[in-house]
Amino acid sequence: MIELVFASGNKGKIAEVNKIMLPEFKVISIYELGEVPDIIEDGTTFEENAFIKAEAIYNIYKKPTIADDSGLAVDQLDGKPGVFSARYAGENCTYDDNNKKLIEELSNYPEPHTAQFICCAVYFDGRIKKSVTGILKGEIINEFRGQNGFGYDPIFQAANEKRTLAEMRSDEKNKISHRAKAFSKLKKILLTK
Ligand code: IMP
Repeated sequence: MIELVFASGNKGKIAEVNKIMLPEFKVISIYELGEVPDIIEDGTTFEENAFIKAEAIYNIYKKPTIADDSGLAVDQLDGKPGVFSARYAGENCTYDDNNKKLIEELSNYPEPHTAQFICCAVYFDGRIKKSVTGILKGEIINEFRGQNGFGYDPIFQAANEKRTLAEMRSDEKNKISHRAKAFSKLKKILLTK
């Protein structure tokens, strides 16, 4: 089994990604290794930010590293909030603040507010760089529904679904998510490397 260091401190994400990468790979959180650097994600694309994280972690542990960066892109807003998804309503804002701001902004546009979650997953081992993208298409609705998940889940309805991601169980979301798609692709290309 090949060990991969995952440049993330999010326990839910680590468990989700580990499930996908097993049994060929074992994902280890940087938190299990010790030092967790403060990484400034100042890239302009998901891919740039994912590589910023992967390279920063690789440079400390010198072990094969995976990382991801994800966010929401709304068509009527020309792909916003994009790489600013986490802080759309300002520094230190809550998920609720972001969702309210987005609904408010989209009230100026006709429905449907088509959108997609995008996840870029990368691999870096000091020599080889790999990068893949996973997409989940859907639309932003103008009310909050459901309690599960995080971020924009309560206002995002996947295509051909009546429920928001926050109304789905985590195992249901993890089957269709942008992250699941990205890491499944990454696993495939790492196995053929
Ligand atoms: P990260 O790169 O995975 O940390 O995601 C950055 C931001 O994108 C998060 O803070 C959320 O606002 C948003 N986001 C990414 N993935 C999801 C998801 O699966 N559901 C809801 N929001 C997400």
